[in-house]
Amino acid sequence: MTRTFNFSAGPATMPTTVLESVRDELLDFQGTGISVMEMSHRGKIFDAVYQESIANLRKLAQIPEDFDILYMTGGASAQFALVPMNLSGSGRAAGYVNTGAWSEKAIKEAKAQSLDVFDAGTSKETNHNHIPAEIKTKAGLDYLHITSNNTIFGTQFQSLPNPGDTQLVIDMSSDFLSKPIDWTNIGIAYAGTQKNAGPSGLTVVIIRKSYYEREKESVPAIYRYTTYAKNDSMYNTPPTFQIYVFGLILKWIESQGGLSGIAQHNENKAKLIYDVIDEFPDFFKGHAQKDSRSLMNVTWNFANADLNAVFLAESQKRKLDGLKGHRSVGGLRASIYNAMPEAGCKALADFMREFQQEHS
Ligand SMILES: Cc1ncc(COP(=O)(O)O)c(C=O)c1O
Repeated sequence: MTRTFNFSAGPATMPTTVLESVRDELLDFQGTGISVMEMSHRGKIFDAVYQESIANLRKLAQIPEDFDILYMTGGASAQFALVPMNLSGSGRAAGYVNTGAWSEKAIKEAKAQSLDVFDAGTSKETNHNHIPAEIKTKAGLDYLHITSNNTIFGTQFQSLPNPGDTQLVIDMSSDFLSKPIDWTNIGIAYAGTQKNAGPSGLTVVIIRKSYYEREKESVPAIYRYTTYAKNDSMYNTPPTFQIYVFGLILKWIESQGGLSGIAQHNENKAKLIYDVIDEFPDFFKGHAQKDSRSLMNVTWNFANADLNAVFLAESQKRKLDGLKGHRSVGGLRASIYNAMPEAGCKALADFMREFQQEHS
């Protein structure tokens, strides 16, 4: 069977070997005669799956001991609300960098919690085609929120900004575990697993334990980070199947050379596509400025917009799928997360070259 190269923005492509392991173990998990989906989250067997994934994530991403790893649900969208709900201190002010639609949603939820939102920088005036060169901060903020990779616009922070006297809260939805993470200035990092790390349904939250001091009685138990921390993320029934697959993905990333190995693969893959865009700048119009380019989502328009539909139809025939751009940028978007093989990026780059020859 030939698999289609899936450039979808998320849920996204997964490593074939992981899918094969899932298939092989689906009916009979570790000789139990039942599926991992069918067993109690409180039983010994699932507990081992959970514990192993936590230990492996800590090791893989070198997460310091003063952080907890929580398994939650509701995606980054839930975190947009839970972060201000749980983290706002006496100042009730937080900085937000607006680098696109997801940042805007996060800002909206902070305002709904009556937080005073400090504008730490924006790229709105140029349809979010860059990461602001200067990130502003001020004394006394409860946290500074950024979106590390902007899935829709194809921009990415090339390094983490300095948050001044506060710490960063990072929506890592679309570049989680795609490269090493420096935890020095991070307070919280959160991400749904459905792009770089598995199927949808699991949200990984990595939180500095000192934030628990800000816990508020007024927040319902199910929405408090401490509830998850005290109960090994099993206060309610967790998404067991997703946790199991996430564990397989962690082992797969390790087999690719860990986070620095995967980062190198991701750089090589993205270069294959950006090189074509740069070779024919009158034909392909890259959306992101060069200094802000994402290694996860490559976005471009054609100088001749009529070619969008032609490219999409022809790419489908070659088993290159999921390339339609988001309506706020238009054109095309290639999402090339961890599990996209280099062969997929090469197939796309070759097709782009051929297409240019034929239609320029
Ligand atoms: C950067 C970013 N933030 C947040 C979200 C929303 O995530 P979820 O659907 O898991 O809530 C997405 C989804 O694509 C995203 O790309």
